[in-house]
Amino acid sequence: MSLHLFPSAPWSDRAGRFSAARALAFAAALVPGILLLTRWVGDDLGARPLAEAIHVSGDWAMRFVLTAIAVTPLARLSGAAKLFAVRRTLGLAGFAWAAVHVVFWAADLGFDPATLAFEAAVRPYLTLGLVGFLGLAAMAATSSDGMVRRLGTERWKRLHGLVHPIVILALVHLTLQSKLDLAQGALLTGLAVGGLTLRVAIFHRLRLGWGAVVAATVAAFLGAAGWETLWFALKTGRDVGPIVAANLSAAARIAPSWWAVGITLGLGCAAMASKSASGRRHDQGSARRPSFERPLQGGEDDKGTARLYPMPPPRRWFEIIL
Ligand code: HEM
Repeated sequence: MSLHLFPSAPWSDRAGRFSAARALAFAAALVPGILLLTRWVGDDLGARPLAEAIHVSGDWAMRFVLTAIAVTPLARLSGAAKLFAVRRTLGLAGFAWAAVHVVFWAADLGFDPATLAFEAAVRPYLTLGLVGFLGLAAMAATSSDGMVRRLGTERWKRLHGLVHPIVILALVHLTLQSKLDLAQGALLTGLAVGGLTLRVAIFHRLRLGWGAVVAATVAAFLGAAGWETLWFALKTGRDVGPIVAANLSAAARIAPSWWAVGITLGLGCAAMASKSASGRRHDQGSARRPSFERPLQGGEDDKGTARLYPMPPPRRWFEIIL
């Protein structure tokens, strides 16, 4: 039996052929589930297993959504249109983990509809989380090729651009609920701010290169350090000096801001290295180099990406996040 029989399998490409990249992304989406299950079975989730499961699933939802939105800037930086193959899988993984997160939350409240509705209505962080979750659900439901055709590319892109405001909602959600574990919140915020900075560069139709990598890295640092400082100031009202000092020095601990710098810079450098390696290969083969840097000619299909680029110039200020 051939894999061609399952054209929509998570490990197949659009033509129904096996895709190692998509299979890897699918496996990555399952690994946190296996780890969580192992901890559950091994009674290793602490005094309140459901509370811990809510946190773990929320973190993974955020990580997959952030990885999905990193695909476009990384593809632009590296010129590797192949990266788009895993964007849908990563986005669906983000939605699936958000759904698991919501199920754990509902289980923690005994699946009682009245309590669930009351909690979601009176706690702003839950209301915001629900709005974000419904947005992710709308995107997941319209993620198929058939829905792209049915909605039309422009309307589909507009709907799926909602992922950026959803990330901002999710960041507010996690910030409002944070009590003790500052590190995850700060790291995720830093990575999101770095990613959104690249989005702003794409909005302005800037050529992404080393300047964009440096700008995203600085933004990731400021996002993570700023989040920690602001959170500390608002929750405790105490002097923020020690928090600022801890973020500026890497001596006492590796602060989340430095992790955010390492991850953003690492990904940026990898993308730029891949671009120069592919440039050298193409120069040697004298083939025309598939790249996002040169404008596409009319009717040209740059390895299937002409549908997405070049983007028409955005007209309204709020399209910066859409
Ligand atoms: C876009 C969808 C969502 C994302 C990405 C998300 C993400 C997160 C993250 C990252 C955390 C913090 C985890 C940690 O501290 O380690 C969190 C906590 C939490 N989220 Fe969500 N969330 C989403 C939607 C929701 C929804 C719809 C609900 C329920 C209505 C919900 C309920 C909770 C609860 C109860 C907590 C823990 C609060 C506590 O410990 O007091 N989340 N979420």
